Amino acid sequence: MSTLTTQVELTDPELKLLQTLVYQECGMFFDERRTHFLRDRLQRRLKACQMDSFYSYYRLLTSREGKQELTALLENLTVNETSFFRIRPQLDLFQKFVLEEILKRKQERRDWTLRIWSAGCSTGPEAYTIAILVCDALAYYYLRNPLPFEMPTPKPLIPPPWKVEIIASDINYSALLTAQQGTYTESHMEPVDYTCRLRYFDKVGDKYAVKAALKSLVQFDFHNLKAEYLPQRNDAIFCRNVMIYFDEAEQKRLIEKFYRCLNPEAYLFVGHAESLFGLTTKFHMIHQNNATVYQRVEAPQ
Ligand SMILES: C[S@@+](CC[C@H](N)C(=O)[O-])C[C@H]1O[C@@H](n2cnc3c(N)ncnc32)[C@H](O)[C@@H]1O
Repeated sequence: MSTLTTQVELTDPELKLLQTLVYQECGMFFDERRTHFLRDRLQRRLKACQMDSFYSYYRLLTSREGKQELTALLENLTVNETSFFRIRPQLDLFQKFVLEEILKRKQERRDWTLRIWSAGCSTGPEAYTIAILVCDALAYYYLRNPLPFEMPTPKPLIPPPWKVEIIASDINYSALLTAQQGTYTESHMEPVDYTCRLRYFDKVGDKYAVKAALKSLVQFDFHNLKAEYLPQRNDAIFCRNVMIYFDEAEQKRLIEKFYRCLNPEAYLFVGHAESLFGLTTKFHMIHQNNATVYQRVEAPQ
């Protein structure tokens, strides 16, 4: 048993074993710049498990009994930094160009479904931001264009017959729980302006709770991006600030999967430190007003 004061030595071969296991399980790649973080989290988990050897810990993680600990380790290794309205120029591009184009195209085809996936949603602000932008975009679209059906009263967030579904997924169960609760502190709410707060949040004590109508548009779910089966038929995918933790081979595999998870001509948003450059030829880049989005390229008929 390790005592609280002593640190168990983590040898290079043990580190390599654990590094490879993490990579195989979730795609996160810890290069030299990030091994100190991996070492620190491994030490913490070893202590929490009251074990005295990293090799035994590795054996636990790869055993059937070790599934729960593997989940705990991966949760400890994820970086969950996020915020409402993160990367505004990109969200403007989404609302004013991408959504406008999708709504027009879908209405012409009498397809009233809209499905957007926040892949690596962390504690939820990205998914709720997308939901807000979609509600506002639909309202504004039908302010300028006649609604093909009668609007019921009271006015719903989503005008019928539209069906909006926002899938929000992560590998971190604790983050998903926070996201599902949808309650945020004043500091989380800093990027949310007051009209938006009034429309989409209730004040509960000193916190803000996402209103039920908005919440009902978002479905939180566990999905490991390393898996082959992922949410299909999306009109847009947001996977921002997730691929930076993957190596190039894993990024290429993920982009290939995203291609298959998107509807024809649908869109992929990545973080501003991320790019598809050199990784694929299946998307073309659209760059406008300091923001970038990638659109699926279709093979000629
Ligand atoms: C830095 S946060 C980004 C949150 C949000 N997309 C944003 O940009 O604000 C990265 C998220 O990716 C998740 N993540 C990392 N690896 C993952 C994987 N293999 N499958 C699913 N989610 C993963 C982490 O748990 C974390 O919540």
